[in-house]
Amino acid sequence: MQKLLIQGGCPLKGEITISGAKNAALPLLCASLLTMDTVELRNVPELMDITTMLSLLQQMGATTNLRNHATIELSARYISNPTAPYEMVKTMRAAILVLGPLVARIGEAHISLPGGCAIGLRPVDQHIKGLQAMGAEIVIEHGYIRAQASKLTGARILMDIVTVTGTENLMMAATLASGQTIIENAAREPEIIDLAHCLNQMGAKITGAGTDIISIEGVKALHGVSYEVMPDRIETGTFLTAATATAGEVYLRNARAETLDAVLSKLLEAGAIIDFDHNQIHLVMKKRPQSVNLRTAPYPAFPTDMQAQFMALNSIAEGTALITETIFENRFMHVQELKRLNADITVEGNTAVIRGIQQLDGANVMATDLRASASLVIAGLVARDETTIDRIYHLDRGYESIERKLSSVGAQIKRVT
Ligand code: UD1
Repeated sequence: MQKLLIQGGCPLKGEITISGAKNAALPLLCASLLTMDTVELRNVPELMDITTMLSLLQQMGATTNLRNHATIELSARYISNPTAPYEMVKTMRAAILVLGPLVARIGEAHISLPGGCAIGLRPVDQHIKGLQAMGAEIVIEHGYIRAQASKLTGARILMDIVTVTGTENLMMAATLASGQTIIENAAREPEIIDLAHCLNQMGAKITGAGTDIISIEGVKALHGVSYEVMPDRIETGTFLTAATATAGEVYLRNARAETLDAVLSKLLEAGAIIDFDHNQIHLVMKKRPQSVNLRTAPYPAFPTDMQAQFMALNSIAEGTALITETIFENRFMHVQELKRLNADITVEGNTAVIRGIQQLDGANVMATDLRASASLVIAGLVARDETTIDRIYHLDRGYESIERKLSSVGAQIKRVT
């Protein structure tokens, strides 16, 4: 089992290049199922979740070819086995993203139900409801979603809840349905815009992505594309928060400030000085951070995927902060671990009260989920002495070469087996 050892107390100083976005790359890989032609994706991050998704596509019959670092060529001309088995879906919930493309392209899919996961229940009822509205017949048996459709038909779908992968699944399915589909109460995340751009370049007719009403005019077939995945806004936000917590100065290349409004405004409130242009962000922090209250909510509000990192920041900030998590019911697992570093946090329902202290103390902690791991890294970077983080496979699901990137800006961090 691998661990990260961090010697705290070094301000982050220097340049980091941001990788392609995991949450954009995953649906884009699934979009390759929608066409007989080859799809080339550039700027794909090297992550465990990407490897898992590629294995899933391969076992369905697709061929995948790593052209060079970060460029992957996919061909789903033949789909022989439209199944996403339990073993894969349980490690990566985003596997549900093959459902819409499979039903739309070949009229059949067997996808394991994702079930519970560490951060909450995460049902997929909205994905199913939307596909049923488009005419798919869906039964749940033996823990699998079994979907069939001779042809999907455009429909008006009102989502009961704002769901990111739900919106993506239905948007992909609708590209090949006959007639028009309108998705209302759609999620507005930048990754949805990225997916829509790529699908449109493949010949789809999608308008409104990035707003809460997306309209898709179905077409007969989609064609191949070469497409560059957008930069990862959560990786960007994580490094900015780490630089703020350690009173450092970083230049993030290949970073898009316009996808991070809510996070940047909270970092400014904490005392960071930030400037940016179209492709990079510069942040400098010259003092102890001020505590910041926040509440997670669907984009463009503060992202749940940045909540844990801000918990670490608030633990050493001046003042007391309230963090309310409204998206996932069990996303405070990092609190117990942060407390091992002496953080002063109390949780009441879906709100955490964080009383900032001058300094955390290094300790042995355990990563419990992807973003929780990132908060422990930030805490380790600011803590006195050494912090050891166990179970870092969670981190490898979503952060490309995190210890290499952090070392390059002065962090004392290494991976040990
Ligand atoms: C995506 C992101 C994840 C992020 C999350 C919220 C990907 C691959 N993952 O996950 O990193 O944390 O958005 O920003 O993009 N829900 C239902 N029924 C459904 C679908 C969702 O009740 O059919 C609920 C979920 O339980 C959750 C909320 O809706 O409480 C939002 O979940 P959703 O947006 O679907 O998250 P994901 O798309 O899985």
